[in-house]
Amino acid sequence: MEEKTLDQSSAPILEAIEEYHRLDRYGFTPPGHRQGRGVDQRTLDALGLDTFRSDLLATAGLDDRLSRGAILSRAEDLMADAVGADKAFFSTCGSSLSVKSAILAVTRGRGEILISRDAHKSVTAGLLFSGLQPRWIPVRYDNELHIAHPPSPESVEMMWQRHPDAAAALVVSPTPYGTCADLEAIAEICHSRGKPLIVDEAWGAHLPFHDALPTWAMDAGADICVVSIHKMGLGFEQGSVYQLQGPLVDPVRLQHCADLLASTSSSVVLYAGIDGWRRQMVAEGHALLDSALSLADRLRGDIGALPGLHVPREELLGVEASHDLDPLHVLIDVSGLGISGYQASDWLRAEQRIDMGLVDHRRVEATLSTADDDETARRLLEALEKLTRAAKDFPTPPPISFPEGSDFEPDMALQPRDAFFGPVDSVPIAEAVGRIAAEQVTPYPPGIPALLPGERINAAILEYLRTGVKAGMNLPDPADPTFQTIRVVAE
Ligand SMILES: Cc1ncc(COP(=O)(O)O)c(C=O)c1O
Repeated sequence: MEEKTLDQSSAPILEAIEEYHRLDRYGFTPPGHRQGRGVDQRTLDALGLDTFRSDLLATAGLDDRLSRGAILSRAEDLMADAVGADKAFFSTCGSSLSVKSAILAVTRGRGEILISRDAHKSVTAGLLFSGLQPRWIPVRYDNELHIAHPPSPESVEMMWQRHPDAAAALVVSPTPYGTCADLEAIAEICHSRGKPLIVDEAWGAHLPFHDALPTWAMDAGADICVVSIHKMGLGFEQGSVYQLQGPLVDPVRLQHCADLLASTSSSVVLYAGIDGWRRQMVAEGHALLDSALSLADRLRGDIGALPGLHVPREELLGVEASHDLDPLHVLIDVSGLGISGYQASDWLRAEQRIDMGLVDHRRVEATLSTADDDETARRLLEALEKLTRAAKDFPTPPPISFPEGSDFEPDMALQPRDAFFGPVDSVPIAEAVGRIAAEQVTPYPPGIPALLPGERINAAILEYLRTGVKAGMNLPDPADPTFQTIRVVAE
């Protein structure tokens, strides 16, 4: 990373909050709770007064009515300076909003965009209301591990050859499994055609702060990169930053697109969490990440030594898999215990009061952050050790029928928006083969839609989802959560 040019020891939003309290300001404005003074005691007993104390109106509260203190923009400039981007924008609606803003800004709401088919549902939701035509970049599907690896540069090049008029390409890296694309090569391919690359780096907020981690998208040459501060960073839920560099994307248009989608009452508390985390990372991020990486290394070894557990690494890397891996994603294969990831996750929550992140048919994942230490690692290790003993009494998990990789990329028969907003029928899934989906069906986590509005439903995917639900898969999207019926385009 380049030398910082701004005073990175300052945190404009945190300082403005402190000053607000010091000056004893009071606003006859939202938020009506008046920094907690009007809040019911039972609510305060649960949340504490501090939860409300710094919840202030951003404009005509924290800053004046014309934002003359430039508090937010100074904090954003510090973030851009910290990570080596031209510009950074804060958002309080997660990467879900940031990524939609990026899509709208680069496409101007028209035409085609190349998107890797492992995109998160927040990205595909952007297609539904923008009316864009997605051109899916095939991902590398591992038919043995049943895991999707990010697309290769060759497949991005192939998609540009087929769709040279697309406005931009969007890839997800790292994936929720921690696997990464070869962003440098992909950026080069896009730029050779004068097209921008958007990277959904929701899982990569920490990457700029340690060079042993996978390459950060801005260093790899991406034009826009979206991060969630709450995932691998230490900000509040919903805090997100989108960064921009180079001449291919108009920063004003990008900000205008975000304005279209954002709340007019953005949370100052969320902004402050981002601001404070940036300051912390510049000051001590390298050392903190050093410790987190050593912890991950030890924990991976210790978990892998437990009977029946496996922590994959090499099989996630290599020519036909991913370019790189973030080791802070500690993925644990529990299939050697004869149980599913869903069973393991439910047992760990019920019996050990530990929640896991990503959960699938054969794996659970712990993401480590700089907040973790020997104590939290020990807790996880002990819980997993108990799991290995308890697992022998678990019932055999119902089998899941997996499609071949290509079945995961059904034909796009209609534009997603037309399918979603048009007339729909609800049909029993047994009658849905050959029909066009009118709703997203997304196993969550990881949140990658198995079916999208506009896609022609095939038997293999339906069987995967039907058997998946039986085995414990969470499908929050469909109108029928039991997945006995599915909404399809009316004929
Ligand atoms: C790859 C990816 N992109 C985007 C998002 C949305 O991020 P957020 O929860 O910050 O809105 C997620 C959330 O899990 C994700 O995994």
